[in-house]
Order: sequence, then C-alpha cells, then structure tokens
Amino acid sequence: MRVVAGSDHAGLSLKKVLVEQLRKSGREVEDLGTLESASVDYPDYAVAVARQVSAGNADFGLLVCGTGQGMAMVANRIPGVRAAVVSEGFTAAATRQHNDANVLCLGERVVGPGLAAQILEIFLSTPYEGGRHARRVGMIQALDRKDV
Ligand code: RB5
Repeated sequence: MRVVAGSDHAGLSLKKVLVEQLRKSGREVEDLGTLESASVDYPDYAVAVARQVSAGNADFGLLVCGTGQGMAMVANRIPGVRAAVVSEGFTAAATRQHNDANVLCLGERVVGPGLAAQILEIFLSTPYEGGRHARRVGMIQALDRKDV
C-alpha cells in the first residue's frame, strides 16, 4: 500500500506523527510537504496529494491542516478524488465502506495524535463494500465528467 501525505503549517506536527506511524506499520509513504513550520497555503498541498491519488500513483492520500476542512474542499475538486474529513472512528470506517473515500483529511486542532492514529488505521484497513454503494459512488464520479 502506498500513501501520499501532505499538510500545511497547522497540520505539520500531526502529519509527522502519522507519517512515522505509517512507516513503522510497513506502508510506503511519501510526504509531499510542507516540511517546515513557516506559514504556507493549504491548497498547494491538497492539490499535490490529490493529483497523485487521481493519477493512480498512490492508493490513499492523507491531508492534515488545522481543521481538515480546507484540504477536503480543495482535494474534492480533483477528478477521482473522494476526500473525507474525519474526527472519529465510526466515520473513518463508514466513509471507506460506503463512499470508497480515498483521501483522509484530519484537523490537528480538532483531534489529538492518539485518536488521529486510530482513525488513520481504521481508514486504511477498512475495505469498500461496493454493492448498493457502487451506483452512488458512480454518481459522484459522473460529476467529474459533467457540468452541473
Ligand atoms: C490555517 O490557519 C488554517 O486556516 C488551515 O490549516 C485550515 O484549517 C483550513 O482549512
């Protein structure tokens, strides 16, 4: 499994913890930045990670900012990306099972590192259920090909 990660300055500390967790668990992970604490713009990192997922160069994306919200807003504009902001375990599993989410967005100002680590593990280890959800996910993907 290959994961690409990104954060702005507000998500840097949590992203570092999670990247380390991914490496220790044997997953391949690439950190696309930011790597320093200076203020940066979250859209740059959301686009970089989302493009890698969209292109099939990564199985999953991980984006961390202050809230996770801005990252998700940007990532979801890239075709093929289904980014979810998650702050508890139930949604981490459900958005994989039902939405086939492929980018996890976390807020460093919202969740502590212990909870974030649990959310990440649940997200990465929970399979998409397909079945009745496939038509609905297909409807999301159809929006990439249409003006609505
Ligand atoms: C940065 O201050 C903050 O706005 C950003 O990290 C994020 O929370 C935006 O959604």
